[in-house]
Amino acid sequence: MIFESHAHYDDAAFDEDREELLAQCQEQGIETIINVSASLASAASTLALTERYPFVYGAVGIHPDEVGELDEKSFSWLRDQCLRPKVAAVGEIGLDYYWDKEKHELQKYWFRRQMDLAKELGLPMIVHSREAAADTLEEVRKAHSSGLRGVIHCFSYGPELAKEYLDMGYYIGIGGVVTFKNAKKLKEVVKMLPLERILLETDCPYLAPEPNRGKRNSSLNLPYVAEAVGQLKGIEAEEVIRVTNANAKALYFLNKPCPLRVNKADPASKKKRDGARGHF
Ligand code: NI
Repeated sequence: MIFESHAHYDDAAFDEDREELLAQCQEQGIETIINVSASLASAASTLALTERYPFVYGAVGIHPDEVGELDEKSFSWLRDQCLRPKVAAVGEIGLDYYWDKEKHELQKYWFRRQMDLAKELGLPMIVHSREAAADTLEEVRKAHSSGLRGVIHCFSYGPELAKEYLDMGYYIGIGGVVTFKNAKKLKEVVKMLPLERILLETDCPYLAPEPNRGKRNSSLNLPYVAEAVGQLKGIEAEEVIRVTNANAKALYFLNKPCPLRVNKADPASKKKRDGARGHF
């Protein structure tokens, strides 16, 4: 069974057939989906998906392109949403100097705040980093502590940088790009990564793998990604699917109750929450 660790099913690209497509995903071996938000609006629509579909969990966070909409009030709303039982991560957060929509200092400021939130709540984080290799590494290093865990999603840098994140305990998200003929650097990264640190992801509706490159992507394409990873590592796609599923579950704690995310109205559980130090 496949664990889809990064999808955007609230995107308008799925408006016409979302219901049918998600039903098909479940029939075709997609066991669990993390729907990842990027803005305040998509955080709300992600939460709605998690309520409608038992196998969909959410990540709540603001993408670097959208941090201009954050202030203390919206950040506090975001924090409250992270306490909901089906929110499995803070994300996607990070730095994007490719689109460069917001000033670098502002991107860094809200990246730090959201990393602190992940730390505070004992949630893993989903990091987006594009053409911002050195600054992302510096920020993650500065924020890093034993309590902070996460995945560097849609990894687009080289093996040396992957090693830096592995050394800090992070997972690496691998998607459709690994099937592209010209993705030499990413193929090198996949060869050196321990299978135990890889998560499968689509980032759909974007980045469909071969043979569907250029079309709308969905989790139904993940077997092509597993196949490509398996070929690079000389193992069966089945093993890639099995191990990455266990990896994702270990990261997102889907089957463990989080002591921080309890009913706020219950004073007994508030006490527990205040005394809690993390997921265990
Ligand atoms: Ni994404």
